[in-house]
Amino acid sequence: MKEFKIEEYNKNFFTEIDKKWGIVVSGNKNIGANGMTVSWGGIGVIWNRCVCYLFVRKSRYTHDFFDKTNNCSISFLSDDYKKAKALFGSKSGRDIDKFKETNLNLEYDQELDTYYIKEADNCFLLEVLYSIDLPIDKLDSKIKDRFYPTNDIHTMYVCEIKKCLEK
Ligand SMILES: Cc1cc2nc3c(=O)[nH]c(=O)nc-3n(C[C@H](O)[C@H](O)[C@H](O)COP(=O)(O)O)c2cc1C
Repeated sequence: MKEFKIEEYNKNFFTEIDKKWGIVVSGNKNIGANGMTVSWGGIGVIWNRCVCYLFVRKSRYTHDFFDKTNNCSISFLSDDYKKAKALFGSKSGRDIDKFKETNLNLEYDQELDTYYIKEADNCFLLEVLYSIDLPIDKLDSKIKDRFYPTNDIHTMYVCEIKKCLEK
């Protein structure tokens, strides 16, 4: 993987996340790491920093890792890995070793003490700057009824893009 500047990012993030999906990995050397598939999120600018917005439900095992570290990443893999991406989005790291099951591998970035997926075409290495549980009373009722029937709310993470890598 080689580093590139965020200003050189030339992909359509809508199709990247919505169609290709990402794998978010949270963790560091101390606690290890867990990953899950995501198709919701965004990129933008706030506080004069380039950021990535992630939304992780509180029930996810990955959420436990976010509680313990600000180090995370989002990796985008080609559709050759569609099966692996589906498994990362349907099974929990609480129950199985998803890396072993899919033959995907974690790569470690020493500088940022962050893990990402070795097989990714590209990825962002991130640091959480802010997190908030989406306040359920502020949600439009259509959204609340459809997406939160059991109150399994998303935590929104605003993460600074610290490093961009591509194959
Ligand atoms: C296409 C797809 C997109 C998903 N997007 C999200 C998401 O943005 N946020 C979220 O909390 N869960 C999302 N999920 C569900 C998690 O990936 C899934 O519950 C996963 O098994 C959680 O793993 P964990 O318990 O090891 O963290 C998505 C699943 C799929 C298949």
